Amino acid sequence: MKLRENARFNTLCIHAGQVPDPSTGAIITPIYQTSTYVQDALGQHKGYEYARTQNPTRAALEANVAAIEGGRAGFAFASGMAAEGAVMTLLQSGDHVVVTDNTYGGTYRLFERVLRKYQLEFTYVDTADVAQIEAAIRPATRLLFLETPTNPVLRLTDLRAACEVAHARDVTVVVDNTFASPYVQRPIAFGADLVVHSTTKFLNGHSDSVGGIVVAVRDDHIEWLRFVQNAEGAILGPMDAWLVLRGTKTLPIRMERHNANAAALADFLASHAKVRRVHYPGLASHPQHELAKRQMCGFGGLISFELGSLEQARTLLNSVRLMALAESLGGVETLISHPASMTHASVPPERRQQIGITDDLVRVSVGIEDLEDLREDLAQALERV
Ligand SMILES: Cc1ncc(COP(=O)(O)O)c(C=O)c1O
Repeated sequence: MKLRENARFNTLCIHAGQVPDPSTGAIITPIYQTSTYVQDALGQHKGYEYARTQNPTRAALEANVAAIEGGRAGFAFASGMAAEGAVMTLLQSGDHVVVTDNTYGGTYRLFERVLRKYQLEFTYVDTADVAQIEAAIRPATRLLFLETPTNPVLRLTDLRAACEVAHARDVTVVVDNTFASPYVQRPIAFGADLVVHSTTKFLNGHSDSVGGIVVAVRDDHIEWLRFVQNAEGAILGPMDAWLVLRGTKTLPIRMERHNANAAALADFLASHAKVRRVHYPGLASHPQHELAKRQMCGFGGLISFELGSLEQARTLLNSVRLMALAESLGGVETLISHPASMTHASVPPERRQQIGITDDLVRVSVGIEDLEDLREDLAQALERV
């Protein structure tokens, strides 16, 4: 089994980074559940010394995700937040970061509550407007941290334009690609330097593992991330690496169904009398629909919508039967949530209002069940609202 240089996306998802196990021929990379490796003689080993530093299952996942993101190396961590934390160690005190204002609540918490203690400075702007990115860059700016589409109101950043503006000022671009997945969008192709993921979501796809990964292209980033992954040690364990590897094999066909189901449910919600507003990049009414068509392959599996009041949102959330009321996203099963009190509870209320996370907002991570069952579930729950 040999993967050609020009292998295409679906083939890469299944084969990249994976060779049959050399000792048995097992077609699937085994879970190397070991903490250390026996050395043949002093100073002679097979490239593996200690499992924080190297693990073959983790290495297979890292090579796989690096290939499907179009990067050169991947580094897997214990969670998406640990992956973000590792990226931020590229910075030094006094450095400044420009961040998408609508970023995931946990990212905001990491930057504001942890990293500010180390004299890092953050400015949050609406990165959908490239002029705001440009205006926020200062001499001390080292990083532009983008999330597109944003969680949960699905605003987009023009990745090519943002990378051009940042690179002209020597600013490194990091993209949190968790919401889209590499099937829907590959930021490195638009110029991004680093891509981070919570693998907990679409990459794993089965809601049975928590993890994160960073994909890099530049030598200096690769060298530092390899060092810091070992030095800080927040690595992804072999069992979780194996679960995510199993997930990436079916990423394309899962994403096709996520995309199709979400697009159909967004249409259904947009025409429903009890729904005030639907946020979904696939709708012609989305302010950045044209950008979504250029930058994304399909429009992703996330939808959010406004119902008018917290009470109405509560009634809907308590009335769904098939959809599960839960945090997280990107699994095969449909999850429904209330961003203001769940995923974004750590964002102060005034800031939530500013960035559109209103109390009546409901988010759906659309799974790959039969569309009719999902539509019927939403319809019966909306009847009670
Ligand atoms: C966009 C985004 N980035 C990062 C994270 C953090 O990932 P994890 O929960 O794996 O630490 C999440 C989690 O919900 C997320 O939605």
